[in-house]
Amino acid sequence: MFYIGIDLGTSAVKLVMMQGDGTIVRIVSKEYPLYFPHPGWSEQEPEDWWKAVQEGLQELLQGQDAQQVAGISFGGQMHGLVALDAEDHVIRPAILWNDGRTAEETDFLNTVVGKATLSKYTANIAFAGFTAPKILWMRRNEPENFNRIAKIMLPKDYIAYKLTGVHCTDYSDASGMLLLDVEHKKWSKEMLDLCGIREEQMPHLFESYETVGMVKEDVAASLGLSSHVRVAAGAGDNAAAAVGTGTVGDGGCNISLGTSGTIFISSKEFRVDSNNALHAFDHADGHYHLMGCMLSAASCNKWWMDDIIGTKDYQAEQAAIGELGQNHVYFLPYLMGERSPHNDPKARGTFTGISMDTTRADMTQAVLEGVAFALRDSFEVARSLGIKIERTKICGGGAKSPLWRKIMANVLGIPVDVPACEEGPGYGGAILAAVACGEYQSVEEACGKLIRVVSTQEPEPELVARYEGRYQTFRKIYPALKELFPQME
Ligand code: XUL
Repeated sequence: MFYIGIDLGTSAVKLVMMQGDGTIVRIVSKEYPLYFPHPGWSEQEPEDWWKAVQEGLQELLQGQDAQQVAGISFGGQMHGLVALDAEDHVIRPAILWNDGRTAEETDFLNTVVGKATLSKYTANIAFAGFTAPKILWMRRNEPENFNRIAKIMLPKDYIAYKLTGVHCTDYSDASGMLLLDVEHKKWSKEMLDLCGIREEQMPHLFESYETVGMVKEDVAASLGLSSHVRVAAGAGDNAAAAVGTGTVGDGGCNISLGTSGTIFISSKEFRVDSNNALHAFDHADGHYHLMGCMLSAASCNKWWMDDIIGTKDYQAEQAAIGELGQNHVYFLPYLMGERSPHNDPKARGTFTGISMDTTRADMTQAVLEGVAFALRDSFEVARSLGIKIERTKICGGGAKSPLWRKIMANVLGIPVDVPACEEGPGYGGAILAAVACGEYQSVEEACGKLIRVVSTQEPEPELVARYEGRYQTFRKIYPALKELFPQME
């Protein structure tokens, strides 16, 4: 049988077709536009996602026996607000996870409602990209749209809805709405009241590996699928990527170097960061995780390569980089503001330490290092909670670069394991579909059987020491500039 994982990302959707034994049959990717209607805003059209998914599925199934497809599931960009009216029409473009328009609403939630209260209701505090502040923004700025809302959902849930007709979400993704009581896995009535939303406007909650429905007959017919294809709820892309890299159960760690950069720590026990700098969310394996998220990771490198120096040859640019650990240039990667740990939508990117002899390669290196240092900030928060991270997996577009993996291992000072399949969220989605179809009894069992590490980047003590010194300098740059960023708007 075949299982399809749909990774609904920010720049593209990736579809992964997997056999029951974990072998990947085909991968297809389809891009769609991303809109920045104002500085710091970030939107997409849900209809663009659906069109790309349909085209992607068609291409994925070409020349294959589509009747063998047993299940479909997802990893989806998190936190995005998708609002449907009573006829299930999309009311406005989705407001995405890296949108920073809700500074005032976030501030209101964290200071007037209060962080302690939010944390009591949801295990988390408000961050600008979370869904609840976006609902408040819409209520205040677009009351006519707000009053038309019949259903709220997250990006991948819109695709599940188009496939099955069911309004659903899963606990891992719902955790990022700031509307879920994460520990007890139910909507928080207090938070819904605060946002002016009724429970019937929320989607049904499922575990990521549970079936939400079957693909509708007309959709199945248009794709050549059988009428018995199960759709499992799927997960937020980081939880799905954790499944796809085998970061499940207790004490696993995964780094995702995608558009965003995340550090994901799996745990069987529910726990909260007492400072709420890390998110305390449900996991796709039925348990929990802590996560730090930076808003611009591989996207910083993409911006620097594509938009600024104007090249697509990332490898050649990285080959020009000399010895590591000696760069005078520092880069703050806050191109869309920053989430973890600063929670500052007004933060911006900077190059610091440039001199007359700075080369293009130094600046490219600074971008890669700046992302690694910023992830280390979240790593340090985890350490301060007493969490011991001995090693980590890595996935995402940025993880394809051996140099970036080396920088990461030495900035963090731990071995970085590369799994055989690099398609974290898509592969994770396919695994969740396989579990929903009974191919495996649990997510942990599936991961135990399917995930293999093919190489490890070990840290080198001398380089770790050099990076330690540079990290200590890096961490002083943001506090020194923090007050200036609002003046630069
Ligand atoms: C996680 C987050 C990002 C998006 C990227 O909290 O906002 O990782 O999920 O798609």
